[in-house]
Parts: sequence; C-alpha cells; structure tokens
Amino acid sequence: MSANNIILIGPMGSGKSTIGQLLAQRLNRDFVDSDHYIEAKTGVDIPRIFDIEGEEGFRVRETKALKELTERNNLVLATGGGSVTREENRKMIRAAGFIIFLDTSVNQQLERLKHDKKRPLLQTENPRERLEALLSERKPIYLELADLRIPTDRKFARKVANEIIPQLPEYLMNS
Ligand code: S3P
Repeated sequence: MSANNIILIGPMGSGKSTIGQLLAQRLNRDFVDSDHYIEAKTGVDIPRIFDIEGEEGFRVRETKALKELTERNNLVLATGGGSVTREENRKMIRAAGFIIFLDTSVNQQLERLKHDKKRPLLQTENPRERLEALLSERKPIYLELADLRIPTDRKFARKVANEIIPQLPEYLMNS
C-alpha cells in the first residue's frame, strides 16, 4: 500500500506547525511536528542539541526521526525547514505521501520570527542575510519536491488551511 501522509515542507516561519494542526483537525488525522518529536525523544530542546552536538548532530537526529515518522500512515507531518537538504531525507519524504510546500518570502519569515529564540540558525548578526542564503539554496528543492505549492504571505493560517483542503487529492480525504 502506498503511504498517504500529508507532509508540509517550507522554510522556518512558513506556518508548517500551525497550518498542519488545522489540517489534522479538519481531516481527522494525527499531527506530528518533527522538531517536537526530536525534542521529546531527546529530552532537550533544539537549541541545546545544536549547542552540544552542532548542526551535524541535529541533522543525524532529524534523519532518524524522519525514518520513524515516514513509516507511519494517515499523519499530517510538519518537517523542519532544513530537512530537505539531505538526499536520504528527500527519498523518505517523497515515498511517504502528498507534499505541500508553504511558500513564504524572507520578509514574511522575518516578521513571523522576529522574537524567536528557538531557531539556532537565526541567532546571528544578520538574520535576513541568513534566511536569504537558506532560501536561495533550498527553494529549488522545495519546488522540486512539492505536489502542491501554496503562497502563505499575509494570510492567516486558517485561510491557508481552507485553501489547501479543496486541492487535496480524493484518496487523502477518505482515509
Ligand atoms: C531549521 C529549521 C527548524 C529546525 C532547526 C533548523 C532549518 O525547523 O529544524 O532550527 O535548518 O531551517 P522549522 O522549519 O520548523 O522552524
């Protein structure tokens, strides 16, 4: 049987968690956020993992989490913004279900993340420059993976969820 998860991809601040929870409620599915899953398994938060193990250590944990989560079914899964950078992750994500890219500008990301202290990659002198660099590297990958692309700028999460639902393929509605 082919997997029928709904997988949200996109950069930090694109709304994967909030929109994912709304979709899960509406579709009567379980919701999992891969960062929260990693934190629950590790017992410490993401900034602490980066402090102790560096980004590379975090990426190893992220791949392990994706392996476990993509074996499940009927989930709405919010992935971390950088999860698509590893080919082995992309393979798992592709095989796991229907992929939605939440397309968000750097301006919008900055607006949503201006008070954020939980994203280690943004604890830098120039968060705009960092977000631009990450997006120019990752956006082609998000686009390549996506079954559906939804622009999210200046939209409330509920509006985005309402836009997504009618565009989901039939087989996802009946599971
Ligand atoms: C990261 C995004 C974060 C989290 C970590 C690294 C990234 O997830 O996995 O801080 O590389 O873009 P969100 O996209 O949920 O913020």
